[in-house]
Amino acid sequence: MENKLREIRERVLSELEEARESSRLEQIRVGVLGKKGELTGLLRGMGKLPAEERPKVGQMVNEVRQVLEDALEQRQQELRAIEKDARLRAEAVDVTLPGPERSAGSLHPMNIALNRMIDVFVGMGYEVVEGYEVEYDHYNFELLNIPKNHPARDAQDTFYVDDNIVLRTHTSPVQARIMTTRKPPIRVISPGRVYRADEADATHSPVFHQMEGLVIDEHITMGDLKGTLDEFARQMFGEGISTRFRPSFFPFTEPSAEVDLTCANCKGQGCRMCKGTGWIEVLGAGMVNPKVLEMCGIDSKKYSGFAFGMGVERMALLKYNIPNLRYLYDNDLRFLTQYR
Ligand code: PHE
Repeated sequence: MENKLREIRERVLSELEEARESSRLEQIRVGVLGKKGELTGLLRGMGKLPAEERPKVGQMVNEVRQVLEDALEQRQQELRAIEKDARLRAEAVDVTLPGPERSAGSLHPMNIALNRMIDVFVGMGYEVVEGYEVEYDHYNFELLNIPKNHPARDAQDTFYVDDNIVLRTHTSPVQARIMTTRKPPIRVISPGRVYRADEADATHSPVFHQMEGLVIDEHITMGDLKGTLDEFARQMFGEGISTRFRPSFFPFTEPSAEVDLTCANCKGQGCRMCKGTGWIEVLGAGMVNPKVLEMCGIDSKKYSGFAFGMGVERMALLKYNIPNLRYLYDNDLRFLTQYR
């Protein structure tokens, strides 16, 4: 009996030693201490022993049972610690690994050019004001000295919303709004979307952007206009870029000019971009027509002013040497994200 007990003890202890999972411990426990386990079996068999031996054997069995229970408990704890360790290691996150890349996005090249244009004028003391894309005929045409049946209306291929409301064909109605609501000195720029019923091609789009400029004060001359646009050209496109004024006509300015910039591509030498002339036509400008000043309630004897309007897309094409307006509208990210 004693040998049997020792044998069980040693075997179970070494089985516990070798156990690698808590589920295995349970197997071992059931095998020796369970209802049908070996030790339990021995205790049951005690009935067959002579009465005087029973207490001694009972005690021995209980000792072994105690030893095995303690050993089980201890191994249980060891295995739990090991298993927890392994789980933690398996679930560990390497915080030094690079995360998934997020694209930062970039500004549209036209907006980059526009921001630059605005910066230049704000640097010269201009204020940015915005008007309305859906505009009264009154501001888009009448106050700008373009009465009904004036041929200039045809030239601008207007989208009419109804008889009195249009999609603005230029940013000049903002001039009219500012002049009717403010007193000089006035020094504003107003960028924004404009609409013309044009067929889309390499240089035209039915929706495009302009930036208007307006200065009204005492003693404003054409020289101020020329100096302002020269400075703008230099800051926008670099040293050596200046302006050339050619006589032109707009109903709201008198005198009026088409303004060219030195071709930035060839620095005025003449190239394909400027068709060999060394100049690129970029904007319309002039001295605000005294008639317009008066219609807007500004004393044309005391005040004079200049105005200019330029295409924003055109500036972007020139600044980045983009050959076709459509690149700006196609929304091909491979193209758009090149510009920062
Ligand atoms: N509004 C004119 C156009 O769209 C441009 C312009 C603005 C001309 C201001 C002179 C003065 O063609």
